[in-house]
Amino acid sequence: MRLQGKRALVTGGSDGIGLAIAEAFAREGADLLIVGRDAGKLDTARETIAKAAENAAIETLSADLATSAGVDAVVGYVGQSSRPLDILVNNAGVAYLVPFETVSAEQFQHSFALNVTAAFFLTQQLLPHLSAGASVINISSYFASKMIPKRPSSLYSLSKGALNSLTKSLAFELGPRGIRVNAIAPGTIDTAMRRKSIVNLPQQAQDELKDYVERSYPLGRIGRPADVAGMAVHLASHEAAWTSGSIFAVDGGYTAG
Ligand SMILES: NC(=O)c1ccc[n+]([C@@H]2O[C@H](COP(=O)([O-])OP(=O)(O)OC[C@H]3O[C@@H](n4cnc5c(N)ncnc54)[C@H](OP(=O)(O)O)[C@@H]3O)[C@@H](O)[C@H]2O)c1
Repeated sequence: MRLQGKRALVTGGSDGIGLAIAEAFAREGADLLIVGRDAGKLDTARETIAKAAENAAIETLSADLATSAGVDAVVGYVGQSSRPLDILVNNAGVAYLVPFETVSAEQFQHSFALNVTAAFFLTQQLLPHLSAGASVINISSYFASKMIPKRPSSLYSLSKGALNSLTKSLAFELGPRGIRVNAIAPGTIDTAMRRKSIVNLPQQAQDELKDYVERSYPLGRIGRPADVAGMAVHLASHEAAWTSGSIFAVDGGYTAG
């Protein structure tokens, strides 16, 4: 098991990509702290992970990471334990795929609060609790650099671009402490977030999007949460001991074109 004895914090670990990462970490022997807002979803996730990895130690914490109080609550919780964190996955995120001219100040603030500010300050405030050799993994998106026709992404792309810059700058600043910082940029992954972002499109737009995706992905399908989890396990493990400051596309070849 590649993560035996390691302690991992996964934000947004109660659903979608974060849950798949948490499950994969548990199967590789890691002990987990998963954070999300909805306590019921966290309980369900704990049961799901426990089924996948019987001996996993799983802690859950309900906190809204789009608020500084939520970030403080997570840092306070981690600080209560003398056990350092070996892996931090900044995964919780929000995607407002709305036309540039309609982006509201609230959407802008919320997007940055969760996608950027939370990753920034959670990592900063957890530094005293990160072990030497710790791995920080930011979940970015292909939307940071590649757009889709008729999917207006100015706000989402901006926030994930900022997260990519943070990934690279922190790799430089934290490398001397032995901390590695990388990002994963998934392609379209079938999760609640993705479904939420298309459900209000007119049927024709949904059909066009489906056609576009099937034509555009060299591997012929969109991703599954587990497709991302494999890369996260690699980056968290000793296999990636000399890997830092990189943004890994996990997107079925989509951005190769
Ligand atoms: N799905 C895709 O196609 C795709 C593609 C590229 C990148 N990504 C990125 O991958 C990450 C995960 O996306 P996903 O599709 O797996 O999303 P998801 O299925 O909607 O899951 C989001 C997770 O984050 C938690 N969360 C949401 N807002 C939160 C908040 N304010 N504070 C704490 N936790 C919060 C949710 O739990 P609660 O709702 O209970 O808080 C849930 O556990 C995001 O950063 C997203 O931008 C997704």
